[in-house]
Amino acid sequence: MTLEPDHNAMPQSSSRISAEVVVARDLFDQPATWPELVSGSRPVELEIGSGKGLFLVTAASQRTAHEFVGVELAAKFANRAAARIAKHGLETRVKMLRGDAQQFLQVVVPDESVAGIHVYFPDPWWRNKHKKRRVLNDQTLGDIQRALVPGGQFHFWTDVLDYYEHICARTMDTTQLAGPAFVPQRVAQHTMDYTTHFERRARAHSQPVYRAIFTKLSN
Ligand SMILES: C[S@@+](CC[C@H](N)C(=O)[O-])C[C@H]1O[C@@H](n2cnc3c(N)ncnc32)[C@H](O)[C@@H]1O
Repeated sequence: MTLEPDHNAMPQSSSRISAEVVVARDLFDQPATWPELVSGSRPVELEIGSGKGLFLVTAASQRTAHEFVGVELAAKFANRAAARIAKHGLETRVKMLRGDAQQFLQVVVPDESVAGIHVYFPDPWWRNKHKKRRVLNDQTLGDIQRALVPGGQFHFWTDVLDYYEHICARTMDTTQLAGPAFVPQRVAQHTMDYTTHFERRARAHSQPVYRAIFTKLSN
C-alpha cells in the first residue's frame, strides 16, 4: 500500500503520512529557515542528537513556556522522536528535524537566538582516525557560543570521561563560556525518569555520567 502524505494535517516540522505515522521534517529534502521553525516570541532550546526524543518530551512538558528544536541525523530515531512528540501533543512547540546538527547550527541558527543547547551522550567515535566525526568540535563549540543568548546555557553530558575532559578543556580554551558547573545526579522517581535514553542505559549499568553546564555571560 502506498501512503500519500496528508498535507492538510502537516505541521511545520513533521509530516503525517497517515493518522498514525508521524515523521520528522527531513532537512536534506526540505531545508528550513529559523523563522519557519520558531515563533520568535518564546525562549527556544535546541537539542543536538535527540535519539528517540525522551529529553524533548520531558523538558517540553516541564517548561511549557519554551519552544524546542531537536536535530537527529538518523532517520529511524528522528521519526521515532517525532512520533513520541506527537503522541504527547507537543508538536506545535517541539520541532523534530532529521539532519546534520553541525550544519544546522552553522547555517540556520541565528546569533543569540537560543536559551539552551543540549548535547547528551554524543557518539564518542573511539578510534583516533574517526574522532573527526564527533559532533562536538571547535567549530561546533564556536557556533554554540554564537547561538546562545546572553545567560544561555550549554549542557553537555557523556559517559566517556576522555570525551568529557576534552570538550570541557576545548570549551574553556576556545570560547568565553563560563564553566563547567557541576550538575548533581538526581534520584529517578520512575523507570523513565532520566534525561535521555542513554542516561537511563548508563545508570542501569552503573556507569558514571559526567555532566557539565557552561553559561554565556552577559557582555
Ligand atoms: C549515542 S546517541 C545519544 C542519543 C540521545 N542524546 C540520548 O542521550 O539518548 C547519539 C545520537 O546523536 C546522533 N548524531 C550523531 N551525529 C549527529 C549529527 N551530526 N547531527 C545530529 N545528530 C547526530 C546519532 O544519530 C545518535 O542518535
